[in-house]
Amino acid sequence: MNKLKFLSESLKNLKTVGTVTRSSQFLCEKMVSYVDFENSMLIVELGAGDGVITEHILKKMRPDAILLAFEVNPKFCENIRKSISDPRLIVVEDSAEKVPEYLAKHGHKQIDNVVSALPFVSLPDELGDSIVRTCKDLMKDGGRFVQVHYSLLTRKLYERIFGEIDIHYEVRNIPPAFVLVAEK
Ligand SMILES: C[S@@+](CC[C@H](N)C(=O)[O-])C[C@H]1O[C@@H](n2cnc3c(N)ncnc32)[C@H](O)[C@@H]1O
Repeated sequence: MNKLKFLSESLKNLKTVGTVTRSSQFLCEKMVSYVDFENSMLIVELGAGDGVITEHILKKMRPDAILLAFEVNPKFCENIRKSISDPRLIVVEDSAEKVPEYLAKHGHKQIDNVVSALPFVSLPDELGDSIVRTCKDLMKDGGRFVQVHYSLLTRKLYERIFGEIDIHYEVRNIPPAFVLVAEK
C-alpha cells in the first residue's frame, strides 16, 4: 500500500490505527531482529496493518513455520491478501483478543513468538492487559513478545505481565519508535 493510501486509511481510523505512517524498513528490521526464527514454528503478528512488518517476518521465517497475522481493518487485510502470496501466512481479519480461538482453529497449542504493533495507548486498559496476558499464557518458555510504541506510556503493562523488559530505540522512523522486548 502506498504512503498516501496508508495515510488516508489511518486518518479515517486514527484511534485503532494509532499512527499515520507505516513502519520504516529500519523499524521493521529492528523488530524482527529480536525473534529467534530458527526455533519458531508459530509466530503471531498483532496489528499487521498493510503488511509491512509481515513481509519482513516472512522473509526470515522457516519454510515450515506458520504466521498468524491479526488485523481488524478490512482495507488493510485486503491489501495484505493482494500483495503477499505466501502459503505460510494466515491473515486473520479479527481482533487480537481472539488469538486463542484462531490458534485452536488452525490446530496450534503454543505460540513461539509475538510481534505486535497494536496501539495499546489508544485501546482500553483492560483490553490491552487481557491481550498481552493471554498471549503470554499461550507462549512457550523463552518466547518473546516484541512490541513497537512511540512513547513509553504503556511500559508498565509489559512489566506487570512479564517482569523486566528490554527497551530499544529506532530513530530512523517517523515518528522515532521504541521496540519493547519481553521474554516469558
Ligand atoms: C500502528 S498500526 C501498525 C501497522 C503496521 N504493522 C506497521 O507497522 O506499519 C496498528 C494496527 O493495529 C490494528 N489494530 C488495532 N486494534 C486491533 C485489534 N484489536 N486487533 C487487531 N488489529 C488491531 C490497526 O487497524 C492498525 O492497522
